[in-house]
Amino acid sequence: MASVSTPFPISLNPKIVRSKPLKFRVLTRPIKASGSETPPDLAVATRTGSKDLPIRTIPGNYGLPIVGPIKDRWDYFYDQGAEEFFKSRIRKYNSTVYRVNMPPGGFIAENPQVVALLDGKSFPVLFDVDKVEKKDLFTGTYMPSTDLTGGYRILSYLDPSEPKHEKLKSLLFFLLKSSRNRIFPEFQATYSELFDSLEKELSLKGKADFGGSSDGTAFNFLARAFYGTNPVDTKLKADAPGLITKWVLFNLHPLLSLGLPRIIEDPLLHTFSLPPALVKSDYQRLYEFFYESAGEILVEADKLGISREEATHNLLFATCFNTWGGMKILFPNMVKRIGRAGHKVHNQLAEEIRSVIKSNGGELTMGGIEKMELTKSVVYECLRFEPPVPAQYGRAKKDLVTEDF
Ligand code: HEM
Repeated sequence: MASVSTPFPISLNPKIVRSKPLKFRVLTRPIKASGSETPPDLAVATRTGSKDLPIRTIPGNYGLPIVGPIKDRWDYFYDQGAEEFFKSRIRKYNSTVYRVNMPPGGFIAENPQVVALLDGKSFPVLFDVDKVEKKDLFTGTYMPSTDLTGGYRILSYLDPSEPKHEKLKSLLFFLLKSSRNRIFPEFQATYSELFDSLEKELSLKGKADFGGSSDGTAFNFLARAFYGTNPVDTKLKADAPGLITKWVLFNLHPLLSLGLPRIIEDPLLHTFSLPPALVKSDYQRLYEFFYESAGEILVEADKLGISREEATHNLLFATCFNTWGGMKILFPNMVKRIGRAGHKVHNQLAEEIRSVIKSNGGELTMGGIEKMELTKSVVYECLRFEPPVPAQYGRAKKDLVTEDF
């Protein structure tokens, strides 16, 4: 698969096409021995089949210093593409667990060496925070400069063992709780408006672009639902999608390919970090919007002992990166996949959704969605085919033995 140009990790998703699909695609940073004398190379081993089988040493290697990481990075972005990068090594090592360098390496990530866990049995260890540490691993083997987030390490980069993690997470749960009565009405209002305008465009031109228009809709929805503020009534106007896209690019450029020639793109995006100063004024505009809109959430931050400044940077990140970023990838992918699924599925979905809403007095609710079996299945399938965040990272806290499928 050639890398594509969206500014989020979806572009790097190894869309593995196989008769028996991989349920998970996962990467971990080097899993190091922490509780014994075991040399790092032997710290993790794989078992195949049953626990009675002998332990194998993990296959794969990292190549020569400097050269190995660059070779793997070029394979990933240019010579193989993300999908073939993983598939070819599964074939080569006859294993879904192996050692490899993950991009970017270079001067951005000090240590690109990981053990990749590419099957459903070995993967879940990455969510077991007793076994793995998640500190500074949200974007992978490198962490973007904190100059991009007001000098703070944002919640997504904190390990649950860090004291701030619990407080900041409580703040985000408060955000979700306090906006619960606005989520459905604002979703209906903003997305109905979007689909009305897409319908008009379709009837006029015979085609309509969901991707571009939905970025603005997603931000309007989130601002109105989470903070009760309509961005167009503020200094931000309709500028948020452009500002966020640029800021996210500065966070994620080491993982992206924009389709430029390798000789330009690799030094520009994958070797050094882009200077955060170039995006500072854009970020400041977003920051002011959140600071001015987040009234009651900031009062809760006071109660939790989080400074208003730190809270605002976290709200900005959760809204723009975690949520808007997720929607920017997931929603167009769903429209694409449902579109391709054909009339029969369209009709079945319409029937199911309309009948549940009708039997619920014309209202869409969470309870109603729970009853939509086909709809839920379609969403899960879309997430499975193209996970908005395709890779997870964890650093082993102690020696691990993992089993593949
Ligand atoms: C399409 C929507 C979303 C997707 C696909 C998504 C995906 C993810 C993934 C894969 C992780 C990493 C988990 C891990 O490393 O163990 C994560 C973490 C996180 N996400 Fe989301 N997310 C979405 C929406 C949201 C929303 C709505 C919020 C908050 C308003 C949010 C806030 C966070 C936070 C704070 C973390 C770090 C969790 C922690 O450290 O405990 N995300 N998300």
